[in-house]
Amino acid sequence: MILQAGAMAAAAWFIDADPGKFSDDSAAIVTCLRNSARMSVKGITVVSGNVWARDGSRYVRETLRAVGRHPPVHLGSQRPLVHTPEMAKRQGELEFAGAFGEPEPQPGRETAVDWLIGELERRSASILAIGPLTNIARMLEKKPAIAARIEKLVIMGGAVDVPGNVTKAAEFNFWFDPEAAQMVFASPVRKILAPLDVCNKAVVDKRRFDEVAAVDTPVARLYRESFGNGYPGFLTKPDARTYLWDELAAAYALDPSIAVKVETRRLDVVTELGPRYGAVVQGPHAVEVLLEADTDRAWEMTKAALIRK
Ligand code: RIB
Ligand code: CA
Repeated sequence: MILQAGAMAAAAWFIDADPGKFSDDSAAIVTCLRNSARMSVKGITVVSGNVWARDGSRYVRETLRAVGRHPPVHLGSQRPLVHTPEMAKRQGELEFAGAFGEPEPQPGRETAVDWLIGELERRSASILAIGPLTNIARMLEKKPAIAARIEKLVIMGGAVDVPGNVTKAAEFNFWFDPEAAQMVFASPVRKILAPLDVCNKAVVDKRRFDEVAAVDTPVARLYRESFGNGYPGFLTKPDARTYLWDELAAAYALDPSIAVKVETRRLDVVTELGPRYGAVVQGPHAVEVLLEADTDRAWEMTKAALIRK
């Protein structure tokens, strides 16, 4: 490929996601794919979280058809390292149980971990991880040396100085697989966390929803249907609100200059089953934490990608 003078080759990235039916994961994937001058998406690996990974794989393919881009998609871990639906039931009232609240399908052929190892052996790249960290932890466990091939790992997950969104203590991605989050924190990979602390400031309300829903493109139609009639249901609940979660992490991965405040913290993840399962606590592992960002710019980047013809 011949680059114009001054032009830079787009950085290689993999996306590890748990997309529900056109969810925040899907919007994040669309945003990455539609910024190909900054990010060259080499593939998408799917993990259970919002839904079982097999369903997530179907949803991601539906999104890719709407975008007209077809990077490789690989099915990843059906179950977290330790957490099970039975354990989730023993934890009392939960805001959201994701896949654990749905019937579990027969496992499919899980190729994501080996495929990702093979790809990273060929070239170093960064990873945007916007679901539970099961695939990433299993990859690091299977091939610890692969850590040196990961330039950076941008993670949406955790609640550092704020309450959780599944339990009082834990954010969903970390709650779904706390052992994986802990293993990733303990790895030597450079980790940048976009936790609820910053995402809570990136509100998506009906006014923002309408900016996308008014547009008639395949992607905007998927967004309208899902965010309008599914979660959070803007078409029937005009006061509903949601947040840029995975989209904010994607916007940061695409353009780190949206960061306003990043602090390196020493952290760990609670893995004792109980009310604080999946909580982020002080610990030994260095993690760069995105605490404030230009959330308006993150929304503009997301919106531009969603409404593009
Ligand atoms: O807590 C937010 C995270 O959990 C996001 O990755 C979202 O997709 C979800 O369900
Ligand atoms: Ca997600």
